[in-house]
Amino acid sequence: MRFTDEYLDELAARNDIADVVGSYVRLTKKSGSNLFGLCPFHSEKTPSFSVSPDKQIYHCFGCGKGGGVISFIREIEGLEFNEAVEFLARRAGMPLPQQDEQEEKRASRRQRLLELNKAAARHWYENLISTPGNPGQQYIAKRGIEMKWVKNFGLGYAPDSWSDLCDAMAKKGFTQQELITAGLMKSGKNGGGYDAFRDRLIFPVIDIRGNVIAFSGRIIGDGEPKYLNSPETPVFSKRSNLFAINLAKKSKAGYLILTEGNIDVVSLHQAGFDSAVASLGTSFTDEQARLMKRYADEVVLCYDADSAGRKASDRAIGILQKLDMRVRVLEMQGAKDPDEFIRAHGADAFRNLLEGSAGQVEYRLRVIEGKYDIATEEGRVGYLRESAALLASLPGDVEREVYAGRAAEKAGIGRDALLAEAKRIRKNLIRNGKRQEQQRLRPAELHQPSVREQRYTDVSAAVAEEGLVTLLYADPALCARTDLPGEEDFTSPALYKLYSVLLRREREGASVTPAALSAELEQDEMNLLSSIVNRKQLELSRSEQLLEDYITAMRKRRESRSEVDDLRSYAEKLRNEKNNYNS
Ligand code: CTP
Ligand code: MN
Repeated sequence: MRFTDEYLDELAARNDIADVVGSYVRLTKKSGSNLFGLCPFHSEKTPSFSVSPDKQIYHCFGCGKGGGVISFIREIEGLEFNEAVEFLARRAGMPLPQQDEQEEKRASRRQRLLELNKAAARHWYENLISTPGNPGQQYIAKRGIEMKWVKNFGLGYAPDSWSDLCDAMAKKGFTQQELITAGLMKSGKNGGGYDAFRDRLIFPVIDIRGNVIAFSGRIIGDGEPKYLNSPETPVFSKRSNLFAINLAKKSKAGYLILTEGNIDVVSLHQAGFDSAVASLGTSFTDEQARLMKRYADEVVLCYDADSAGRKASDRAIGILQKLDMRVRVLEMQGAKDPDEFIRAHGADAFRNLLEGSAGQVEYRLRVIEGKYDIATEEGRVGYLRESAALLASLPGDVEREVYAGRAAEKAGIGRDALLAEAKRIRKNLIRNGKRQEQQRLRPAELHQPSVREQRYTDVSAAVAEEGLVTLLYADPALCARTDLPGEEDFTSPALYKLYSVLLRREREGASVTPAALSAELEQDEMNLLSSIVNRKQLELSRSEQLLEDYITAMRKRRESRSEVDDLRSYAEKLRNEKNNYNS
């Protein structure tokens, strides 16, 4: 859906940024009119996260995130733009703009299904907690699930009955058709129907917006299938959802743990690992990977320790790496899955496993081994080169020696040769690392945007370009001037984008509030805008003069650029002529 600027501005006006941010972050007044708090987007001990009630923007000096209220909700709730708008509309009790009739019908049908799912979840939850000693209760006791977690996950019990749920839902006014569409009722022979979930522990599947979209039911005791999942419905697509993503998305761990079973997820959360999710009985999909990437850059794979689990791991690794995500594989000795491991060895042991890298090195060596045919000369060289690189990345001498021994043995060469190669690579790594660190600390580089694609190639030119953007944002009247710079005057494409959007909107008489801009700019671009708007203190009384200065600086810079270009092409021409002459 497209929202008008008026709608977005109204939305922002009814969701004051200080209130909205304040419900996630404890804000205190420190200096001037800005509020400060601990940044919710990276971990820190001293507040570098600021909110400006005047400008209605937030900005973190630490991690560079920033924007208006819509950007904030996108970032913290992990929502797309439209979803964030809907979220804020709901918060402020504002209706969404009129949709066309068909769309509206569809939306209301979906809404009904979500209500039905919510009612079913509630019904099963009541079943589980209210009748003492029912099979569901016995089962969760046996699996060691505590009441607090029954509640957090909204677990339930579907009794061994053909009509318990359908009867209850009919009483609430849901039709047979709705029950069937939701996958809660199966149709019988003579037009009747019966409960799809019977005698199962119920796990509601809740999406990132908090809607109950489906259910998994684990059989009580043994039997087939072990897990029954809702079919595809208008509100549920199995391949693009993950069990417990609604909880895990709030984790600050920085990584997500991916398991196979729903019980594993509950056990992990209960043991303090709040970023565990499970795929819903499908093999891992691209969509699920993308969903994960909204919340973390790293995934710890925690599949069962059998051959099926290893195969599933390899598949998932491929998918996740395609999306540039870091992947670790957790290998559990003496337990088939995380639930069993935690029960046997406790949460601390599991944390050691998570934090230790030993299992990982073994695994990665094995992956490398699998890639090459060691019987051939070529394969052996590839294997040695790649394992030397892996060894070089290990921080400890002892660790390096141990694994070098193992890797060398596999390829039938001496350990010392491999170790020497690893040390050589390591030296280079360290030298490069130092160089990068030095670059990072050069003063001019301190104001580089944190996103790689936005980095300035010419920092001193970018200073003037930033100034111009800030000036136009603060004093839009200046946009009326006809002698403003063009694309060729900019060295930073990111700053030119901000500039051109501001300019166009001003000239069209459109809104340039953070809310309206966030409909058009990407999150990264909003971050950049709020960062420079926040950093630069402009004396607006001198804005005309400042504008002249910036424009002059940019044009001068451009001229010197083109002189260099001219020289270059002149040299090129000479070279060509000489070549022609020679031939
Ligand atoms: N599975 C499924 N639907 C789910 C979750 C899991 O179909 N919603 C499937 C997985 O694909 C896998 C198996 O069920 O094949 C997972 O079983 P397991 O790892 O044994 O699940 P746990 O929850 O650990 O079961 P248990 O209660 O035996 O510990
Ligand atoms: Mn299990």
